[in-house]
Amino acid sequence: MSAPVRVTLKLASSLDARIALASGASRWITGASSRGAVHRLRAAHDAVLTGVGTILADDPLMTARPDGIPAARQPLRCVLDTRLRTPAGCALLTHGPAVLFHGADAPASARQALEAAGGRCVERRAGESGVEISHVLEWLEAESSRTVMIEAGGRVAASVIRAGVVDCIEWFRAPVILGGDGMPAVAALGLETLGAAPMFRRTQERACGADSWETWERV
Ligand SMILES: NC(=O)c1ccc[n+]([C@@H]2O[C@H](COP(=O)([O-])OP(=O)(O)OC[C@H]3O[C@@H](n4cnc5c(N)ncnc54)[C@H](OP(=O)(O)O)[C@@H]3O)[C@@H](O)[C@H]2O)c1
Repeated sequence: MSAPVRVTLKLASSLDARIALASGASRWITGASSRGAVHRLRAAHDAVLTGVGTILADDPLMTARPDGIPAARQPLRCVLDTRLRTPAGCALLTHGPAVLFHGADAPASARQALEAAGGRCVERRAGESGVEISHVLEWLEAESSRTVMIEAGGRVAASVIRAGVVDCIEWFRAPVILGGDGMPAVAALGLETLGAAPMFRRTQERACGADSWETWERV
């Protein structure tokens, strides 16, 4: 499926495509130069989207702060959160508006608490793997977001790749190996043939401090 909103998937991993240790420890795999580049990328996108797994693990702000200073233009910060497990006291909600996409079964009490904390709760159709990404992208398009950068854990990354909506990958890789017991940047895709594997073409590669930063476009 090709979405009208341009979707960028940002991955920050070890050389062997791990984003965290099995224990969940993940800060910071990539270096300061890569993190600065990510803040500039955020500032260049209309929206950024994560999953509730990342909110619960890292409590991120997801604002654009190139050089440590908040950018004049901030992306719309969004979370995929089927059952509204995001804590009302999370850092995301203390720094301006944020959108929480949830399913029909999310508890009304959680919705009330999140809205009281400044969150905008948006109900979308949800299936087995969570809130349906195509419905989220439709909503973003209707809200005039033309570009979205996904910065999430392996579950959301797999979900958007499976949905075929990823136009571009910005991949930052640190010169470390975390091993197969680390958390994969992309969770299971359930592919049965190599021919079914999504393919990308590298369009840029550069050094970013000690890390490498590659840009890949969908073939
Ligand atoms: N290095 C990096 O670049 C980076 C970036 C972000 C996170 N991380 C690490 O990633 C880890 C968390 O990974 P994670 O996979 O648990 O979290 P995640 O991908 O951020 O969030 C996954 C959760 O999102 C919800 N969700 C709702 N709709 C979804 C959909 N369509 N597809 C997939 N998920 C959907 C699901 O919970 P519900 O069913 O409850 O909705 C799901 O369990 C943490 O250790 C964090 O530090 C690393």
